[in-house]
Amino acid sequence: MDLKNVFDNNVNWIKEKLGTDAGFFDNLGKGQNPELLYIGCSDSRVTAEDLMGLGPGEVFVHRNIANMVISIDLNVMSVVNYAVEHLKVNHVVVCGHYACGGVKAAMQSADLGILNPWLRNIRDVYRLHRDELNGIADEEKKYDRLVELNVQEQCVNLIKTAAVQKAYRDRGLTVHGWVFDVHTGKLIDLKIDFEGILRHIMEIYHLD
Ligand code: CO
Repeated sequence: MDLKNVFDNNVNWIKEKLGTDAGFFDNLGKGQNPELLYIGCSDSRVTAEDLMGLGPGEVFVHRNIANMVISIDLNVMSVVNYAVEHLKVNHVVVCGHYACGGVKAAMQSADLGILNPWLRNIRDVYRLHRDELNGIADEEKKYDRLVELNVQEQCVNLIKTAAVQKAYRDRGLTVHGWVFDVHTGKLIDLKIDFEGILRHIMEIYHLD
């Protein structure tokens, strides 16, 4: 890849934006007011704004390996806190994707160094859903299902946070679990039962 292309692309992108809206960058410079926090995988094929057809200013984004929401990860927790309490987003999305290398790595027994503690969180998802997953004979289907269950458990991790619980109570913020199918380009809503999960775990995790 010639990185010079990146800067040429940027010049063209500026022209294109100003061509449709002369005040585009003046508005962008004034600040941001996104309604959506998107937490997705770092995978280069899953491009956040592009696949949702959203532009600059419309979505606050956090990406890490296998779209994890880990309570002691200062990075993701800072993003959630800032987006929910300061930007006051009304929707938080965890978006996984089929053919996720992070999820696949967690299903194997290899020692992956620094990735071990990160991927262990996905092994915990497997353990929580072991009966269902062990009942799936087809390895590809099992892997797809683990991608979905991982999204669901990361949504549960969001629901455990004080910021999300308060924002739900104060302004009806909701959490959504999605999966991107890299084979078709389709974005799928897993329709996780946000309020059901909230009711089910509040007895243990309520913080306000
Ligand atoms: Co991935």
